[in-house]
Amino acid sequence: MAQVNGNYLKLKAGYLFPEIGRRVKAFSEANPTAPIIRLGIGDVTEPLPEACRTAMKGAIDEMGTREGFHGYGPEQGYLWLREAIAKNDFQARGCSITAEEIFVSDGSKCDSSNILDILGEGNRIAVTDPVYPVYVDSNVMAGRTGDADDAGRYGGLTYLPITAANGFTAEIPTEKVDLIYLCFPNNPTGAVATKAQLQAWVDYARANDALILFDAAYEAFIQDPELPHSIYEIEGARECAIEFRSFSKNAGFTGTRCALTVVPRGLMGTAANGERVELWALWNRRQCTKFNGVSYIVQRGAEAVYSPEGQAQVQALVAFYMQNAAIIRRELTSAGIQVYGGEQAPYVWLKTPENLDSWGFFDHLLGKAHVVGTPGSGFGAAGEGYFRLSAFNSRENVEEAMGRIRAL
Ligand code: MLT
Repeated sequence: MAQVNGNYLKLKAGYLFPEIGRRVKAFSEANPTAPIIRLGIGDVTEPLPEACRTAMKGAIDEMGTREGFHGYGPEQGYLWLREAIAKNDFQARGCSITAEEIFVSDGSKCDSSNILDILGEGNRIAVTDPVYPVYVDSNVMAGRTGDADDAGRYGGLTYLPITAANGFTAEIPTEKVDLIYLCFPNNPTGAVATKAQLQAWVDYARANDALILFDAAYEAFIQDPELPHSIYEIEGARECAIEFRSFSKNAGFTGTRCALTVVPRGLMGTAANGERVELWALWNRRQCTKFNGVSYIVQRGAEAVYSPEGQAQVQALVAFYMQNAAIIRRELTSAGIQVYGGEQAPYVWLKTPENLDSWGFFDHLLGKAHVVGTPGSGFGAAGEGYFRLSAFNSRENVEEAMGRIRAL
């Protein structure tokens, strides 16, 4: 019989969102007429921007001709898309990132897990607590952790608590770590980091030869012009950071699938013999072996995000979801619930009322208001007693959900 990867047996529970889905399914089977509103998983609900649809339709028609047909594309993504990304998302903000340093992919979830392929086993890894569960689970699966304790914390990981007391931005570790996962705007708390805060992380990483894995999947939701959208807006970040970006949340590509990872040239890691090795070359090698690129049609759709119409449509989508977030914040606050986030991010992080634990509040909300959210404890032990509501839904559903919560 084939042996299984025993690391999978260390995983504490099912992946958070399928687990929520399982509980909601059981509830709706038992209560088939309950009108459930989903503010749990951060999945977009508004239609794809017209500019993207038009571009994808054009690409499909091209594919129907011998001259316009595209087979395997470049594993790194088509140059025209990588150039548009480099120019609009990075160079326009003063970041010296080139098209060559951009790797187009089918998702930040996959990339932030797959990056472990090129990183060694001996790294000391720091994650925030609470955290996007993919960073932790992918390390568990890759055998980079010990077992979990009763609170669900894995041996070998350094947990950096993010709490109301530190404004939900983690403190710089006092010990030396080699890999640091940061996500700003933050999933799940909706917190943001200032340039000074990110500078402190970059300074730490450079002083300790550490690598920052920076997840900027929610950067489009930043409203404050002073806040950085990219780690590369910070001096020295090219020497110590990889960044993940996505078209999922800004342009509604959660089902269409397109994202990107930035690996700067000259960003180095260390081999076992102490030799310095360029991470770009390893990631390029990994992608060429294990990935065949994103479809031509989808890449044409992503390129259209950068057209003037695409930019206007994406901004309108972001504004729509941020108005939802403002409604959620306002209504929960007037219901006496303590809220955080939701001002520069599509997630509102709230303190569960009456000291309910996170799953207790989940059951209460689902059972009484038929509203689905995400229990804070699902993001880590320090998320216990908190709860996340996503602003990704129709205005009607958000208003209805808030009305029901206020009536509880
Ligand atoms: C979330 O709800 O946290 C997100 O949907 C996760 C993701 O984008 O994978």
